[in-house]
Amino acid sequence: MQDTLCIEGGHPLHGRVRVSGAKNAGLVLMAASILADGETILDNIPRIRDVEVMTQLLNDIGVDTCWNDDNSLSICPPPGNVKNYTSYDLAKMLRASNLFLGAILGRQGEAIISLPGGCDIGSRPMDLHIKGLQALGTDISIEHGYIFARANQSCGARIYLDFPSVGATENILMMAVKTPGTSIIENAAKEPEIVDLANFLNSMGAKIRGAGTDIIKIDGVPKLKAGRYAIIPDRIEAGTYMIAAAISGGEIEVENVIPTHLHPVVAKLQETGAFVQENDQGILVRAGEQILPVDIKTLPYPGFPTDMQSQMIALLSLARGSSVIVENVFENRFQIVDELKRMGANIKVEGHTAVVEGVQTLYGARVKATDLRAGAALVLAALVARGETVIEDAIHIFRGYEDIPRKLSMLGARVK
Ligand code: EPZ
Repeated sequence: MQDTLCIEGGHPLHGRVRVSGAKNAGLVLMAASILADGETILDNIPRIRDVEVMTQLLNDIGVDTCWNDDNSLSICPPPGNVKNYTSYDLAKMLRASNLFLGAILGRQGEAIISLPGGCDIGSRPMDLHIKGLQALGTDISIEHGYIFARANQSCGARIYLDFPSVGATENILMMAVKTPGTSIIENAAKEPEIVDLANFLNSMGAKIRGAGTDIIKIDGVPKLKAGRYAIIPDRIEAGTYMIAAAISGGEIEVENVIPTHLHPVVAKLQETGAFVQENDQGILVRAGEQILPVDIKTLPYPGFPTDMQSQMIALLSLARGSSVIVENVFENRFQIVDELKRMGANIKVEGHTAVVEGVQTLYGARVKATDLRAGAALVLAALVARGETVIEDAIHIFRGYEDIPRKLSMLGARVK
């Protein structure tokens, strides 16, 4: 896979970095835009590869998109139906392609979606998506790698999610807003990106209450109207730069954040001995004298985010002592471990648990980004490693981190 990132370690990062719009809000809002006719304008959408693929998917189904001079993204569905089918080769590049299921069903009642790909961090089934959409009156069958869905006499329903799946909550929301009657999602995901989606849909005339809690109520409406909306900042990008300060021995002001979205990360970072202070610009992080070991359990929001787990393992690889990390959200999200061990880390994985024995030094090496957040974790380890680290398949990193070589260089990192 193309794209390689070379980083020379040993340079503490100092300065300010501005966080871009949230990838996981932007992607779902781009899909949700087809629920309304007319031009939707989204502000603060990051120019990252996943967004580019999402614009291709939109174009693929007949929706016009264009980047405006003010860097906003315009999304214009056609007057009639969009194509109800997403192409396999594009969809397998991006897990978020599965969000077209709820969006196209909500727009026109029939969708054929290829089963998605994306990061290989687990099997990532769609059983909860399908359960919810069926409850709303959709006939669904899965054949030859595609999901065939057709809404028949769809009406509001009460849906209980066995797990607070982000994607399932989003797909069900996007269909329920246009489904006659009242729907209730119980044990819904509470991530900030869910709240952003609900706020966006309500700004288009939807009637959603309770987003951000585990019970979301939706009263279906016949039509939604397009408008303009600015998405929230990316809490995971912010957390990644906060750890960059702590691991490199520097001090970074991370700007354009919503502090409440980062409370689990702030709390854990403080436990490792870093100085973390919220102010009205954003969050200031200064490295501590040493990195203290901490135990982490990833959980759905507002627990510690699974998307920050690899980055924390990189930091804890240099802690004074041993840390225990339990991954409770995905079943296979420790690919970062083998790559960090090539840099000298001492980590043992047993099922969902990784035990990290801190070492004095990490050494630059040739490593591979296996998924987006593992790639980000390798960047963090490379910042402090002795010598040069070459990160292959860095394309994974560019999927979710806007302008990362420039942002790191501005902070004093030696990046090529
Ligand atoms: C979203 O993925 C994010 N992606 C992920 O971010 C994030 O890690 C995840 O939510 C959890 O917060 C986007 O928003 C595009 P889930 P999603 O459905 O919706 C299981 C990143 O790095 N599950 O909440 O796919 C599933 O297998 C990415 O930015 C079912 O069993 O996550 C997983 O173990 C990585 N059945 C767990 O739930 C289902 O029907 C969480 O998945 C759906 C999910």
